[in-house]
Amino acid sequence: MITVIGSGRVGATSAAFLMLGEVDNKITLIDIVEGLPQGEALDMNHAAAILGKSVEVVGSNSYEDMKGSDIVIVTAGLARKPGMTREELAGKNAEIVIGVADQIKKYAPNSIVIITTNPLDAMVTVLYNRLKFPRNRVIGFSGVLDSRRMAYYASKYIGVSPASVIPLVLGQHGENMYPVPELSSVYGKSLKAFLTEEQYNKVVNDTIQAGAQITNLRKFSSNWGPAAGLLLMADAIKKDRKAVIEASVLLDGEYGVKGIFAEVPVVLGKDGAEKIIEVDLNEEQKAKFMKSIDAIRANLKQVPPQYLQ
Ligand code: 2OP
Repeated sequence: MITVIGSGRVGATSAAFLMLGEVDNKITLIDIVEGLPQGEALDMNHAAAILGKSVEVVGSNSYEDMKGSDIVIVTAGLARKPGMTREELAGKNAEIVIGVADQIKKYAPNSIVIITTNPLDAMVTVLYNRLKFPRNRVIGFSGVLDSRRMAYYASKYIGVSPASVIPLVLGQHGENMYPVPELSSVYGKSLKAFLTEEQYNKVVNDTIQAGAQITNLRKFSSNWGPAAGLLLMADAIKKDRKAVIEASVLLDGEYGVKGIFAEVPVVLGKDGAEKIIEVDLNEEQKAKFMKSIDAIRANLKQVPPQYLQ
């Protein structure tokens, strides 16, 4: 069973994508708002019946219903409003994440937990500190979103499918993320070789600004991209695919960093984030990565200390 906590736009869309992908035959959608997850679930079950999907979606207001989950996806929290930074959300969402962590500990203590709540790098840290699960079972979302967004933007200039681009974005999920086109490739040929300087800068900038751009355009933050990324991650874990997907994981010496969650390529399989792929960085790239890590440290400072214990 896969449980999605929070049936706002990201939670509901993710549950729908999981149903479409038939990643599991039972998806539980939990929210504190009465009727909301039940209504979403009923609508999704109708969609599943129309499409012939063998999946039951259950809507619930009770955390107890996550019992037996092998994957729990946490989407609970306030979303960014136009002009609002992810960081401003820190205090409020930390409180929500702590409450949810306690429920997961109680009802799904063996699950693999993926969180999308922003500011991502700080919230996954709050979750990890509270859950005290091994690091392979606590995963921050967004690496897949940032990296595939870069693949999308670059592919438009190159004239290939985004799926043929292997992208690399490191560090923070925020204004200080570090997209690395020179270490991203189309079958071994660096993106840098395909792009003019202007295109290169545009790809980097569009990748960093993607989330804010969506929010500014439609006045609420992304859900389709996150749902697609969560589907990919949950599928890799459920089916033990050993797929290399970017995610925010706790670094323990990898990339020369210890005790910080950051976006890196990881191998996702039945045990969660089973292995971190360490890409060789030159001195300049290392410095840029460290700048992004410093931004994550600054994000953590915005979280009231009682939530980080
Ligand atoms: C995004 O990047 C809002 O963090 C979310 O789309």
